[in-house]
Amino acid sequence: MIFRTLCRSGLSSASAVGESLAPTSSSLASLLRYDRKNIYHPYTSLTSPLPAYHVTSAGGSKIRLTLPSSSSSSSPHDEPVQKDVVDGMSSWWSTVHGYDVEAINEAIKAQVDKGLCHVMFGGLTHGPAVELSEVLCGVLPEGLEKIFYSCSGSVSVEVALKMSLQYQRGISRPHKNKFLSVLGGYHGDTLGCMSVSDPGNGMHRELFDGWVNDRSVIYAERNERSMFSVRDGWAGDTVKTRRNKETKMVRSIREHLESRDDIAAVIMEPMCQGAGGMFFHSGDELAAIRRLTSEHGALLVFDEIATGFGRTGELFACNHGGVTPDIITLGKAITGGYCSLGVTVTTDRVSNGEFTRTRTRTRTCTRTRTRTRARNCILLLTCSSSTTRRNFWPWPQHF
Ligand SMILES: Cc1ncc(COP(=O)(O)O)c(C=O)c1O
Repeated sequence: MIFRTLCRSGLSSASAVGESLAPTSSSLASLLRYDRKNIYHPYTSLTSPLPAYHVTSAGGSKIRLTLPSSSSSSSPHDEPVQKDVVDGMSSWWSTVHGYDVEAINEAIKAQVDKGLCHVMFGGLTHGPAVELSEVLCGVLPEGLEKIFYSCSGSVSVEVALKMSLQYQRGISRPHKNKFLSVLGGYHGDTLGCMSVSDPGNGMHRELFDGWVNDRSVIYAERNERSMFSVRDGWAGDTVKTRRNKETKMVRSIREHLESRDDIAAVIMEPMCQGAGGMFFHSGDELAAIRRLTSEHGALLVFDEIATGFGRTGELFACNHGGVTPDIITLGKAITGGYCSLGVTVTTDRVSNGEFTRTRTRTRTCTRTRTRTRARNCILLLTCSSSTTRRNFWPWPQHF
């Protein structure tokens, strides 16, 4: 499937793809045999899997595949074929700087030379984590300044869900214990994330009936069709003509918030529902949803794991609406795909609310086995250092 997608984005001739030793015909065959028999790949089955293509190396926007010789007359001794393809989806929107980026490679090597170690974050801290936090707060919308590190995008969403519930409980509104999500949304693969993702389109939800928490999630409608116009850019004509009209999504969110008092938070992917079919909306809608959530005492959680770090033309999608959410979740592109990291960032108001009742303090502190990894921080600092920042996060006006 991935191969087909890549090919659709355009085959290219070999260039800038890092060299690495290609397997021989027989080692390729045995590697693929083992893989097919023993290794799970996302969104396919292990008993009847879709093919997985062998990657020898990657560089820039391209991945170099090593494929078994395709000719019908080929013998097991024929050399495998190398083919370069353009990765049109940046390894599920992670490798925003391309593959095999020299500056990042160098930073990792330098860190290894200094002593690459992982330390738990419980009771320990270190310079890179603090420095990274300062960098992030410097580029996020003002007010987002309390940072929770975790190990993946999904976990950062789980943290956001728990923060929201804990905040409402902390400010003595325990009845606000449900989430309002938008149909077509996707927020990750852990059970909490699946619960707030689209109930039908959640890819594997029907398998986990009873485990995904349907009773705690309400779904708002999404707009009829995507509002992206290639000619006019984000949200295009459709929104311009609708500017003063309430869209279907905003109306649905408003109606839910007006008709019930139990919504702890609205969670959504701002500007673009990626995995749910590339549905776009506008910055104006984000601003309207911000007003509604504030009026009704619900938190606004923006899942920017797909949209963050420049993917929508602004460093963060919330900038399109000039909106500061109460909680933002980040992942994937934050490390340029080099390693997994999740970040949940919230405001002073939310973190104070969480801790208002002393009884909740201990629970918050132990809510996940969150660790921060020294190497992730070093890598990120390289991406954001003043000398390289422009190349990596190419919106200098934000800095
Ligand atoms: C919007 C969104 N949220 C959450 C996730 C989950 O992130 P991860 O795969 O790092 O757990 C994804 C992954 O594609 C995503 O696109």
